[in-house]
Amino acid sequence: MSVTAAVFASGGGSNFQSLLDRQTVESPGRIILLITDRPEAGALKRAEAAGVATRVIPVRGRALEEVGEETLSVLEEISVQVILLAGYLRLIPPSVVRAFPRRILNIHPALLPAFGGKGMWGHHVHEAVLASGATFSGPTIHFVDEEYDTGSILAQWPVPVLAGDTPDSLAARVLSVEHILYPLAADHLFRAVAAGRSAERLSPGGAGVRVMNDFSDEATAQQIEGAFKACCKQ
Ligand code: GRF
Repeated sequence: MSVTAAVFASGGGSNFQSLLDRQTVESPGRIILLITDRPEAGALKRAEAAGVATRVIPVRGRALEEVGEETLSVLEEISVQVILLAGYLRLIPPSVVRAFPRRILNIHPALLPAFGGKGMWGHHVHEAVLASGATFSGPTIHFVDEEYDTGSILAQWPVPVLAGDTPDSLAARVLSVEHILYPLAADHLFRAVAAGRSAERLSPGGAGVRVMNDFSDEATAQQIEGAFKACCKQ
């Protein structure tokens, strides 16, 4: 039986789409619910197209405890085991964090612990990376705790910052890698949850290019390497 997951998204949901696209009958996890705080979120249409149940849980102007209660009751009703944040811009209520220990992942578009925290989202992140003069950026997938972007890291994938990059060009390069990394990391967590153990951090290996050696099958390694070369060649 596959592990059940809910995706939380506030925006367009291209990461949500990449998670949906990765699913096959053999997948260790199954996305059964999309939760959003915004009725106009593009992710809602993607869920409807994929036949995934949706719930809008408004956050603005409400106490966090109340949002937590509503969220937990929906997650319980639909029997969700894992939560994947994909461009969800709200703090996860402490009651939800406590109910899902090491079962909530977030994707952040920079190499945490740098360039994270409240207010560090979207173009703000990429502007800060460029202003710092960093030569690498790339997505981080981390467990969610009660703060923004401070939970322990599950996977990262370095992506070069190139001469002449703008926040948009850097965002696009990082996003193309997000779409590969997040489904792989989610499957890694699904397998751990199915086996009743905690998911180990996926460690970088090799000399910069093949950084995801723990996904040891050759086809996956080639897919990652090919995507890295296609998006990041100088
Ligand atoms: C991504 O860059 C992700 O890293 C961040 O929010 C963005 C969401 O993009 N948390 P999308 O809605 O998945 O296209």
